[in-house]
Order: sequence, then C-alpha cells, then structure tokens
Amino acid sequence: MPKKPLITYDHSLMFAAHSGEGFSQDDAPEMLRKLGAVRQELLRLKAAGEIGFFSIPDAGRELRRVETLAAAVRKEFKTLIVIGIGGSDLGARAIIRALKPSGRGMDVRFIGANTDPEEIAALLGSVDLRRAALNIISKSGDTIEPMSAFLLLRDRLIKRVGQRRHARHVIATTDAEKGTLRRIAETEGYRTLPVPADIGGRFSALTTVGLFPAACAGVPVKGLLAGAGEVLKEFVAEPASGSGPLIFAGLHYEAYVRGFQHVTVLMPYAEALRDLGAWFRQLWAESLGKKHDRHGKVVYHGLTPIAALGATDQHSQIQLYNEGPFDKLVTFIEVGKFRGDLRVPNPYPDIEGAAYMAGLPFSRIIHAEREATALALARNGRPNGTLTVPDISPRTVGALMFFFQIATAAMGELLDINAYDQPGVEEGKKNMYAILGRTGYNL
Ligand code: PA5
Repeated sequence: MPKKPLITYDHSLMFAAHSGEGFSQDDAPEMLRKLGAVRQELLRLKAAGEIGFFSIPDAGRELRRVETLAAAVRKEFKTLIVIGIGGSDLGARAIIRALKPSGRGMDVRFIGANTDPEEIAALLGSVDLRRAALNIISKSGDTIEPMSAFLLLRDRLIKRVGQRRHARHVIATTDAEKGTLRRIAETEGYRTLPVPADIGGRFSALTTVGLFPAACAGVPVKGLLAGAGEVLKEFVAEPASGSGPLIFAGLHYEAYVRGFQHVTVLMPYAEALRDLGAWFRQLWAESLGKKHDRHGKVVYHGLTPIAALGATDQHSQIQLYNEGPFDKLVTFIEVGKFRGDLRVPNPYPDIEGAAYMAGLPFSRIIHAEREATALALARNGRPNGTLTVPDISPRTVGALMFFFQIATAAMGELLDINAYDQPGVEEGKKNMYAILGRTGYNL
C-alpha cells in the first residue's frame, strides 16, 4: 500500500460543481497536463542545481553546525534576540511560535523587522543584555531595519559588557563572503553562520536563518528537515496528479488566469500556526507579484495573499468571504490531533444554550468550525480546499513550509515569471537612501 502523504490536500470543494464561480472538473485534464510539464521543468532545474532551496533537506552538515552552535549559545545565555526582517525574520517566528517547547530553550525575542523606536526601546527596557545573545540575520548584510537595530543593540551591549567581551554575544547569519555585515563580523571576530548563496530570503526559513533561532528556542530542528525531505521525496516520486503542492499551484493558477480568484487566503485552524500564515504571505506575495514575465513582457502578475486564522477570523473575515466578491480561494489547514485537549464542563444541564456543548473536546469544536465554514463557503459558490497534517510537530511544520515553497516555485513556472527576485522592493529602498542622504542616491 502506498504511504499516506504527510500533508493531505482535499480539494473537492475547489471545483465549480460545488462552488459556482471559477473553473470546473472538465478543466482538470488540461491542468494536469500543464502541471506535468511544470514538474519536469522543476526536476530539471533541481538536477541542474538552479533552484537552491531543493537542496535544503540534504543540508546535514549545516544542520550539525547549527545544532552545535545553538547548544553552546544556550549554555552561555538566557535570551536570544533575533534581529532580521522579511525572509530573515518570518520563518524563525513561524517555527518558534509553532514548536517552542514550554519551559525549555532560550527565551527568544524578535526585533529589527521595524524601525519603530518605541518597539526597540521596549525591548531594551525588558532584556538584560548581559545574559543575552544577539543573532543578527541579514543575507545582504545591508538592510536598514535590522542593521540599524543591531548597531543600537551592539552599542548598548558594549556599554554593559565592554568592547572586548561583547563579541562573544553576537552571532551573525549572513552571506559567506560579502556584504556590510560580513565585514563587520570579520572586523569584530563574531561567530557567524552562512546563508546559502543560492537560496533567497523568503525561501531560507529551513536554512541557518530559521534553524539557528529555532534550535536556540529548544526546537528539535532535525525534524523540520526530515518533514521537508518527505515532501521533496514525494514530489520527485509522484506524477503531477499525486502531488499536493503542484495541484495547489495548478488550482490557484487556473482560477487566476480565468480572471476569477486572485486572492489567496491561508487559514490555519490552530493558534500555533498563526505566524505560518504571515510567513506564507510574504512567500506568495514577493515571489509572484511581478511586473514582467521572464521574457521582459509587462504582465503585472500576482495573487494577493491573506493570512487569516481559524476559528478567530470566522468572526472578522468570513462574512466577506461568503458574501463579498468572488475573488478568493481559501485554503484551510487542519490539525489532526492537537498536543493536548480539554473538555467543556457542564455546569448548566438545564440551559440548552450551554448544555449542548457540555463534554465536547475543544479539538472537536475547532474541527467542526472548519468543516462548517468550508461547507458554507462552498454553498455560497466559494472554492476552498483543506490541507491536513496529523499534528503540529517539527516534521509537519517543515513539511508545510516545503510544500508552500514547491507550490510557489510551481506558480512561478505557470506564470512564467522569476519567483526568486524582488525588483519592486528596490525603488522604495533607493528613495529612502536618498531621503536619508546616503551618498550616491537622489530622489
Ligand atoms: O525574500 C527576500 O529576499 C527578502 O524578504 C529579504 O529576506 C529581506 O529583504 C531581508 O533581506 P536581508 O536578509 O538581506 O536583510
């Protein structure tokens, strides 16, 4: 019997027969034909080493380096302050929120994803820098938000522990050879971790970028790569029709090119996966929002991602999804078994409004909420699908991240765009440098 995939994708409510607007089952063979070609191309690029993130599950040496350094840092310090933005921030946040074991590992704090002085002051006021390590993460080594925060924290750290001792507190995760941060790290003698040159920021959560903070937090990071490896193995082995990430991409593509659903909603039903939605939002937005295709033609492609949370956003977003424009594809994430459960007590057996829920496990309620929402959406003609993972563990979180990375790469192929650059970020950066008076930049 074939092994059950770690992530199952139920897309039965994605088709017009159930959902009204969009594309229909009749379109499926043509979609699978296109996906077959995409799969071949991705496998070719993988074999040629042209898509760096495919090598992530094999990064055993980097993993051991991360684990060894994290073990040392955990012994020496109580708090880890992670300083990064975008792809150098969101992956670690998602992993740690989902998986940090309570009462174990370092207390991990995040800063540098904004230049809000109040936020930075609040952090400084609440951390004892003598017992804190700083993990500055910047692949380019040149990004103003984390680098400015780092310069400030470094300054305060030196005031507390002295110039000579401060270097022991800093771990720089950056390009192996170039960039401002690499220069600073070499000048100061900081410990460093390399960001793989061929893996872009938003695809780097499962590299040193996300794994080191996660390991410091006490997450068994090996499991993350094992989960990613399972998804990769399945992608390589299965035809397009059996590939969750490809089908996910194909359905989004078909809806998008028909001019219907161009908004992608990801709605995990688990508080622990809240930040996974924010991580996915960047991956999908920055990778697929492109003015030009790969031949230079102006296309203005992109699918707008929304990070929602079930059941919370049933009381904030679902009204819009059920009755608003027919522009959304909703994907739920369902967790088979929670890490713990509780039951609703029965203090009012005679009051129907309270008695009907008596004795129900909360896991049963949250599953029912997802199912009910999916059905309501479908009946209102709103396509939706559900990704189910058996639990929330390093293996399934790594698998989910890799699933979305493959799906994003596949979307890049389908849309014929470069999913790995971000030219649209540059213009604002240059304007900011000009406004701040950096040499060589003008408005
Ligand atoms: O996906 C990306 O490449 C970006 O979001 C980057 O991660 C982000 O701009 C931060 O860049 P850096 O790590 O160079 O500071």
